[in-house]
Amino acid sequence: MKKIIDLITETMEAAFEKAGYESKYARVTLSNRPDLCEYQCNGAMALAKAAKKPPMEIAEQIADILKSSQDESISSKGPVFSDISAVRPGFINLKLSGTFLKDYLDEMNRSENFGLETMEKPKRILVDYGGPNVAKPLHVGHLRAAIIGESIKRLAKYMGNEVIGDIHMGDWGLQMGLIITELKHREPSLPYFDESFDGEYPKEAPFTISELEEIYPCASAKSKEDETFREEALKATFELQNGNRGYRAIWDHIMRISREDLKKNYDNLDVHFEWWKGESDVQKYIPDMVQKMKDDGYAYESEGAIVVDVKEDSDTKEIPPCMILKSDGASLYTTTDLATLKERRESFDPDQVIYVVDKRQEMHFVQVFRCARKTGIVDKDIKLDFLGFGTMNGKDGKPFKTREGGVMRLENLISDINDEMYKKIMENHEEDPETAVATAKTVGLAALKYGDLSNQATKDYIFDIDKFTSFEGNTGPYILYTMVRIKSILSRYIADEGIKEDEKAVLSGYGLNVCDNDAEKKLMLELSKYSAVIEASFEELAPHKICGYIYDTADAFNHFYHENKILSEEDKEKRSGWIALIRLTLRILEQCIELLGFSAPERM
Ligand code: ARG
Repeated sequence: MKKIIDLITETMEAAFEKAGYESKYARVTLSNRPDLCEYQCNGAMALAKAAKKPPMEIAEQIADILKSSQDESISSKGPVFSDISAVRPGFINLKLSGTFLKDYLDEMNRSENFGLETMEKPKRILVDYGGPNVAKPLHVGHLRAAIIGESIKRLAKYMGNEVIGDIHMGDWGLQMGLIITELKHREPSLPYFDESFDGEYPKEAPFTISELEEIYPCASAKSKEDETFREEALKATFELQNGNRGYRAIWDHIMRISREDLKKNYDNLDVHFEWWKGESDVQKYIPDMVQKMKDDGYAYESEGAIVVDVKEDSDTKEIPPCMILKSDGASLYTTTDLATLKERRESFDPDQVIYVVDKRQEMHFVQVFRCARKTGIVDKDIKLDFLGFGTMNGKDGKPFKTREGGVMRLENLISDINDEMYKKIMENHEEDPETAVATAKTVGLAALKYGDLSNQATKDYIFDIDKFTSFEGNTGPYILYTMVRIKSILSRYIADEGIKEDEKAVLSGYGLNVCDNDAEKKLMLELSKYSAVIEASFEELAPHKICGYIYDTADAFNHFYHENKILSEEDKEKRSGWIALIRLTLRILEQCIELLGFSAPERM
């Protein structure tokens, strides 16, 4: 199904052509004066110079053509516009006809995905998001990657692409050496530390997840004060990476336990990865990759290190060479990401890779992308996108911390939100506490995710629990509240009408009304933008556009609801038309929040 704006533009193009002008001037946009019109075309002003005519004259000419050609218009079912007017200094202001809008929405309503045209040529897309560092607790910094990445992934799939989400764990760094060293100090008699041990290591880990969570910070703190401890940890890291059997066995334990714990945490966020790969998986690619870069003449030695130049003539700022190996021969974050691209090309051969990572890592990715293209690790036509997100700040404008000033753990943040939501739900009306807990969880997740996603990803935002959990304003709970309201009207309608069987089939057979009031039209106009919004959100990797759309839609619905007595409307046909309208509204909102990564409860 064509986008509504494209249908309007086609009508406009036909009018421009009929007048003997080029159709490129016929661009139509949403009105920036909604008090005057719904859509507008500013082409007459752009054309005036070339046509050597005053813009007002052109606008009037086009308006006249449009008016006289309304009957033979593209909808073939009647006029597209109910109002066409030329306005000084040369705007063409447009209002859509009720029949055109009804026909368009009826067609949307009959379609499973509301007439969205999915990708003509589906792409293979890999979304790299999450990026937790194994054995370190998840903190709020990982929250944005998870929330934004999950939404981008769902959107890419919905558009018809073949998509994989890869968690890309940080699982090969110094934190592993620190844990091994600390464990060695605490329990030196474990077989993992006995070099002469050649039997099978125990299946059970020598620690639980909570012990692990205590060991890491303890070791990390020690390494900052105690230089010999740090040296030891560095050495352990090196030995782990170079095949120490006992260390590798500890590493396996750490990974198994952490993966379980991570999965639990991400499940709580309704975030799910297809791939659980990590930095450790690609280490084996590094030696050959580096050798090839040297052989091909891209990598060279500079002050002992191995680097590849990635600066380009068009650069306006300094882009330092991409470092491939440190002077001690150790690989770096860059090396790992390059090797990961190599591995991904071999295993999935993506057309596009989208990295959802903190925007402070932008330079790293500029270097990695350039180096990968230059050295042929990826093809020239692969799309590499860095979606860098801003920081989640506290009310003081600084990165969000606990009340005590420490790093806020994700789990605690989520339970804070759920507690607050629970309080509000109980305040609202007495509910049975058990249901309220479940509802608070659903609504809490919406509060958290919507609070994040409604901001443009690249911007910093302030985490404000009172605002995010409010039932009013531009919030997740407000959207859900609106949906629950629609659900309740629909079930009352079903009960009133005595519809017993297959209510879905009955309701989906209803057509919408030709709108007869402003509030109804406003809601219809919002809904009709669906395809354009989804397409733009995907192309621009901008879930906040979906948030903006559902907020406007929810507002338009609530206005419509207050202006019209839906269930007590006497005219049966009008009433069922309204039911069709609000049911379409609900279905669209449901699809949108699914793309954002949360869902609505039955009641709240
Ligand atoms: N583990 C990294 C961090 O915490 C994020 C990984 C992002 N993805 C990537 N391919 N580099 O900073």
